[in-house]
Amino acid sequence: METKIKPISLDSLQEAKNIIFSGGVVAMPTETVYGLGANAFDDGAVKKIFEIKGRPNDNPLIAHVHEDYDLSKIIDYDPPYAKKLREAFLPGPLTLVYPSKGRVSPRVSCGLDTLAVRIPSHEGAQAFLKEVNVPIVAPSANLSRHVSPTSARHVFDDFEGKIPLILDGGECVGGIESTVCDVTGEIPVILRPGLITREMIAEVVGDCEEYTLVPDGGKVRSPGVLYKHYAPRCKTLLFTCENLENAILMYMRESLENKRVAALCEEKRISDFEKIGAKTLNLGKNQAEMAMRLYRLLREAEKICDVLIVVEPTEKEGVMRGVMNRLRKACTSEDVK
Ligand code: TXA
Ligand code: MG
Repeated sequence: METKIKPISLDSLQEAKNIIFSGGVVAMPTETVYGLGANAFDDGAVKKIFEIKGRPNDNPLIAHVHEDYDLSKIIDYDPPYAKKLREAFLPGPLTLVYPSKGRVSPRVSCGLDTLAVRIPSHEGAQAFLKEVNVPIVAPSANLSRHVSPTSARHVFDDFEGKIPLILDGGECVGGIESTVCDVTGEIPVILRPGLITREMIAEVVGDCEEYTLVPDGGKVRSPGVLYKHYAPRCKTLLFTCENLENAILMYMRESLENKRVAALCEEKRISDFEKIGAKTLNLGKNQAEMAMRLYRLLREAEKICDVLIVVEPTEKEGVMRGVMNRLRKACTSEDVK
């Protein structure tokens, strides 16, 4: 199968619509990362998504809808505080998990009685969702466990020959996936941190909890948190910012063993690595920059090096909770030093 990359236009949207309604899969841009889209009502198309990605079949999908879509078609209960969250943040990088009406394919939520719904703000995504006017399930458009894609080229690198069309909406400005927030209980619970932070949500509705995985015995509310994610195809070694000296020593040690090494760190640490003539990947100087660059740099790293030395950014609150969550998972094969 030929995989075409096309800018968003009336023609490409029509082509995308035809593919969706004949049970196929189309990659689409969003403001966070690219998604691999299929019709949520079409059981066969949803199945295809799991197969193409190699996704474990107990990890549920997010249904994407346009800003005017009538949510009552797919969700069973809409608590008043969820409406407040939608008014404050949507369209935007926040996914809300509601009690499901059970109308979409049962594969979407992998047997859970809830449904995750997202209204992306990317203009191209809105145009596509309006064109099809059905909920589109769209996991990040990367092979399962690989780094998420922030450009059409990243999607092509993972799925060339496997999907017919990638709608090219430019580079994603958000850079990390949406915040996933459960709204089935008394107060919102964040299942996956992202660009809409706990503090921002609490400011609108008064309270918000953050779910942390209890390693043994705890109930898993978001199966996605169990899996290795976002990993580049090179060895990654993560160092805390207090351990910069060890990171530099490790860089030198790996280089002496004739490995191709690079260092990924925030802008203010770059000069420490440049002093030893290191190859560096600059994560940036503020939260938004670090979120936007993270996946692009992890994908660049796997092309240019065998070993990636990562130094954690100093700031860890707000949006950085989401960035740190991805960074730690990308480096799960090795412990934080
Ligand atoms: O920004 C995003 O959310 C991107 C773009 C493409 O929209 N999509 C994305 O999808 O990140 P995916 O499939 O890579 O991640 C979906 C996350 C997983 O952690 C999954 O476990 C969780 O959402 N999830 C989906 N449905 C759920 C549900 N019913 N209950 C709890 N967690 C759910
Ligand atoms: Mg993903």
